[in-house]
Amino acid sequence: MKEFKIETKIMTYGLSELPDEDLPLMNAAIKATEHSYAPYSKFHVGAAARLANGVIVTGSNQENAAYPSGLCAERVTLFHAGHQYPDIPVVALAIAAATGGRQVESISPCGGCRQVLLETEQRYGKKIKIMLCGMKNVMIAESAEALLPLCFGSKDLEKK
Ligand code: THU
Repeated sequence: MKEFKIETKIMTYGLSELPDEDLPLMNAAIKATEHSYAPYSKFHVGAAARLANGVIVTGSNQENAAYPSGLCAERVTLFHAGHQYPDIPVVALAIAAATGGRQVESISPCGGCRQVLLETEQRYGKKIKIMLCGMKNVMIAESAEALLPLCFGSKDLEKK
């Protein structure tokens, strides 16, 4: 038997320590929670993607009475960016959540959204900085791969 360990790095920034360009991205994700359609969970998630050309694209979770037909904020945002700006890489994604009209502490993307983040990263060959926005701190991962160790990606489809 052999064992190997995979390490990942997550940094925590106080709001005042955030790089200048990240504050507007965080605020856009918080604002996006207001457009969430979440009558079932009442858990309102917002996401904001910064593209390589500086454009910010936002999205929020959109639920459905037939539950699996809804979609998370991260995927709404990434798919919107992919459609609207197919040739421009996504370089950062901020995520925030609120319930009962108040922001909640940092949440981390679900497995399905991590897989879509990974696809977006590999599609453009550029790491996506992921910001998990809390009220006082923001947790930052430097790439989608950092949140998805031992991932399955497009290269695996070439295996024979
Ligand atoms: N949700 C997101 O939008 N993003 C996440 O990272 C986690 C969960 C949504 C899905 C559903 O509408 C609600 O939050 C409760 O799970």
